[in-house]
Amino acid sequence: MKHLIGFCIILLWACAYPTMSRTLTESSVVEAHQQWMMKYERTYTNSSEMEKRKKIFKENLEYIENFNNVGNKSYKLGLNRYSDLTSEEFIASHTGFKVSDQLSDSKMRSVAIPFNLNDDVPTNFDWREKGVVTDVKNQRQCGCCWAFTAVAAVEGIVKIKNGNLISLSEQQLVDCDRQSSGCGGGDFVLAFDSIIKSRGIVKEDDYPYKANDVQTCQLGQIPGAAQINGYFKVPANDEQQLLRAVLQQPVSVAISTSYDFHHYMGGVYEGSCGPKLNHAVTIIGYGVSEAGKKYWLIKNSWGETWGEKGYMKVLRESSATGGQCSIAVHAAYPTI
Ligand SMILES: *[C@@H]1O[C@H](CO)[C@@H](O)[C@H](O)[C@H]1NC(C)=O
Ligand SMILES: *[C@@H]1O[C@H](CO)[C@@H](O)[C@H](O)[C@H]1NC(C)=O
Repeated sequence: MKHLIGFCIILLWACAYPTMSRTLTESSVVEAHQQWMMKYERTYTNSSEMEKRKKIFKENLEYIENFNNVGNKSYKLGLNRYSDLTSEEFIASHTGFKVSDQLSDSKMRSVAIPFNLNDDVPTNFDWREKGVVTDVKNQRQCGCCWAFTAVAAVEGIVKIKNGNLISLSEQQLVDCDRQSSGCGGGDFVLAFDSIIKSRGIVKEDDYPYKANDVQTCQLGQIPGAAQINGYFKVPANDEQQLLRAVLQQPVSVAISTSYDFHHYMGGVYEGSCGPKLNHAVTIIGYGVSEAGKKYWLIKNSWGETWGEKGYMKVLRESSATGGQCSIAVHAAYPTI
């Protein structure tokens, strides 16, 4: 009850002074932090760690409130499971895309095949409505976003072609894809290649996720659950081509994340981007918001408590070359 009152006071305070940049009082931060710790079952090993995390939490809370209070933004920020990490810590530990220098078009199993742009396309499209998308997963503090999006893209095409939605194993890729570096980063295109060479990918249940890469490849006799026979790159920097690919199946893309991704809570993201491609996600649809903004619908691997239940809308057809946060620069999909 005490926590609840403290939290309500913070909310009232925020509403009473909607446009003022401000510093939270120490007691309101303590209350909000304790409330947050209970919600996410967060504990600290000692009091100095607690003080350090509370200070970071406070800075994040102030940043989020000040951002939201400016108003008229197409997206909102909010507290989530990661609110006691600095944005630097969060981005460094929860992304992990590294474009491979082993990748050249000659090594790709195929170069991009352009889609026909003359056909009519729907205004909104969402693969979740067709039962093609598994639940949002969480890579946790392991830089293997590349494995999560590769798996999501394979899960999608397997369901579309074979009719079964099967949750597949990221840990197989973390442990067995020698071309990538496990939690140290990798590229989903190499992951597709690894799946083909492994003669398939096994079920999540048979090779569960551990969020670390201390173990060696344990494929052994685990039966494969799905196989792909190739992959295609989407022509780079072309959101019309990307849209056609997304209408065909969920597509893996790299993206340049910046600190506002850390606190993203909903809406069409048109905020700042990072300096380079550092994360990978899966485009599972697209649409137009009520305010008329076109967006890509992406499935992330940061759990369901981040963003819009684990999903994000990213501005589509932005004026930036390569799209908002370079979303159309490096995109690929597997084939069956
Ligand atoms: C407190 O916990 C942190 C994180 O677990 C650790 O790095 C630090 O050494 C601990 N400090 C003390 C004084 O035990
Ligand atoms: C809010 O943003 C929309 C589109 O981004 C713009 O058309 C509108 O004029 C803005 N309103 C205000 C009050 O700034």
